[in-house]
Amino acid sequence: MSEHQPLLEIVADAGAAASRAAEIIAARVVSGRVKVLGLATGGTMVPLYANLVAAVRARRLSLGGLTSFNLDEYVGVAPRLPASFHAYMRQHLLGETDLDPARAHIPDGMAPDLAAEASRYEMAIARAGGIDLQVLGIGSNGHIGFNEPGSDFGSRTRVVGLSEATRRANAAEFPDGAVPEQALTMGIATIIEAREILLLAIGAKKAGAIAAAIEGPISPDCPASALRLHAQVRIICDKAAASKLDGPQADIRRRA
Ligand code: F6R
Repeated sequence: MSEHQPLLEIVADAGAAASRAAEIIAARVVSGRVKVLGLATGGTMVPLYANLVAAVRARRLSLGGLTSFNLDEYVGVAPRLPASFHAYMRQHLLGETDLDPARAHIPDGMAPDLAAEASRYEMAIARAGGIDLQVLGIGSNGHIGFNEPGSDFGSRTRVVGLSEATRRANAAEFPDGAVPEQALTMGIATIIEAREILLLAIGAKKAGAIAAAIEGPISPDCPASALRLHAQVRIICDKAAASKLDGPQADIRRRA
């Protein structure tokens, strides 16, 4: 596979990143280019989803024709519990827009047979015709989805162990301290099969991961570096997340 330069947009702050990402997603949905949308959870996505909700309420956008696939879900956290990604999606997008919950897919981390659930999820993506646009955040350790450092670039949806760094980063969602040890996640191969990828990174704590993803070696040590094997990747960063970049490796559009 050949190496590609991601298109990098550096914007002033989190608000600008969210509105720019929402603008790109809305344009693709309105034009009909995106019918199957890959979604992420996490703090970075909250303002992005708020922008999409506002666009739907203002009738500038409808998500009614979309099918969506979330990247991941914790193992053993029931959908009704607030820390689940199911609850997150209901709170930030599904309950607030016309996206049809029956077509909004999230892996079932409570499935009795998790390997079967992982295969079922891969088949559902394939049956939908593949993902047109996958939205991603990035972990400060370079993870995408819950593909932690060391994940094989050929990996598909599967059960993974969460790193200590990831469990610490997400601990606030689990006030009882019971941060799950495992998750079901789309694999790196699943992610890079999407026709287009949009990654958002906000804040200085993502600067090292962004520099490694764009300028470091393409290696499982930084799962996000796999995105350089894909020809259609756009990375939107605020200035803080872009602060450790120093090379010309990316095609940079500065909007800040
Ligand atoms: C979430 C996901 C993760 C997050 C990443 C960043 O579905 O797959 O890869 O995108 O951990 O999380 P935040 O945005 O909370 O910093």
